[in-house]
Amino acid sequence: MTTRKEASFQDQKLFQDQKLFEKQKLFEDPWQFENPNLFEPPKPSVQRAASPAEYILFCQGLTVSFQVGDELKVLDGFTLGVKENEFLVVLGPGQCGKTVLLNCLAGLQEPQAGLVSFRGAPVKGPGMERGLVFQKYALFPWQTVEENVAWGLKSKGVGLAERRSVAAKFIELVGLSGFEKAYPQALSGGMKQRVGLARAYASGPEVLLMDEPFGALDAQTRYAMEKELLIIWEKEKRTVIFVTNNIEEAIFLGDRVVLMSKRPAKLKKEWEINIPHPRSYTDPVFLALRKEISAHYDMVL
Ligand SMILES: Nc1ncnc2c1ncn2[C@@H]1O[C@H](COP(=O)(O)OP(=O)(O)OP(=O)(O)O)[C@@H](O)[C@H]1O
Ligand SMILES: [Mg+2]
Repeated sequence: MTTRKEASFQDQKLFQDQKLFEKQKLFEDPWQFENPNLFEPPKPSVQRAASPAEYILFCQGLTVSFQVGDELKVLDGFTLGVKENEFLVVLGPGQCGKTVLLNCLAGLQEPQAGLVSFRGAPVKGPGMERGLVFQKYALFPWQTVEENVAWGLKSKGVGLAERRSVAAKFIELVGLSGFEKAYPQALSGGMKQRVGLARAYASGPEVLLMDEPFGALDAQTRYAMEKELLIIWEKEKRTVIFVTNNIEEAIFLGDRVVLMSKRPAKLKKEWEINIPHPRSYTDPVFLALRKEISAHYDMVL
C-alpha cells in the first residue's frame, strides 16, 4: 500500500516531470518562449459571436458562385470582421477568391448569400468611404498623375484649387513630387502603383481595400513599396485590408493575418502579429511565424 508521504512524493515527481517537459518544449521552439502572445490559440472570426457594430467593416456568411459551365463556388460562408485602424492582411492561395472577396467588401460584387456592413449599415454598392487599390494598374492613361490622383475628389464635386492641394499632399507622400504632369505611360510599374495608392488615399476613404497592389512588381521594388506603405499608414491612419498570396509580405505588413482556404474559400485561421516595426524578413521570430503559417497554407498548383 502507498503511504501518504510516498503519494505526495509521487505527485511532486509528476509535477516536476511536467515542468521539465514544458521547458524542453520551449527549448525545441524558442520562438514560443520569446513570444507567448503569438501562441494564444488563433481565434477564427467565424467562431466569434460577433456583431456587425463591433467592426468598421463586417461580412458574414458570404457565398459567391459563378456559372461557368459547371457551377464554380468561390466563397463559401465567409465571415470576417475588420477593426478600425487595423492593418489587416487577407492571405490566400491563387484563385481562391481574394479579389471576389474584396469586390464584395467594395460593393462591386453582390453575394448570393450573406451580408456586408459598414459601421453597422448594409453595404448596397460602392461608396467613397471604401477606397480600392487594384491588382493591376488601373490609371486613366489620358490623365496626368495629378488628374488621376484627384479623380475621386472631382467626382465628389471638390473645386480645382482644393483638388490640386490635396493631390499635391498625397503625391508628395508617395514620393512622386515632380511627376504631377507626367502621364501613366511615362511611369514605371512601381510609380504607377504609387499613383494608385495616392489616388485611393486622396479621396478620403475610411477603409482602404488593397488587392495585391505590389504583386506585379519585382522583388526589390516590392520590398521598398511595402516599407513605404507602412510609413504612409503610420502618417495617415486608416483601416487597411491588404490582400496577398505572399506569406512574407503578410507578416511584414499585418497587425493581423487571416488565412483563406483554397476554393471554395472559408476563413481558415488567423494570427495576431505582435512583432514590432520595422520588421525583418530574417528575424528568427519572423521565420518561425512564416513556418507556422506555411503549415496551414493550401498550396494550389
Ligand atoms: N466574373 C466572374 N465570372 C466567372 N468566374 C469568375 C469571375 N470572377 C472570378 N471568377 C473565378 O473565381 C475564382 C476566384 O477569382 P479571384 O479573382 O477572386 O481569385 P484570386 O484569389 O484573387 O486570385 P489571384 O491570386 O490570381 O489574384 C477564379 O477561379 C475565377 O476564375
Ligand atoms: Mg486577385
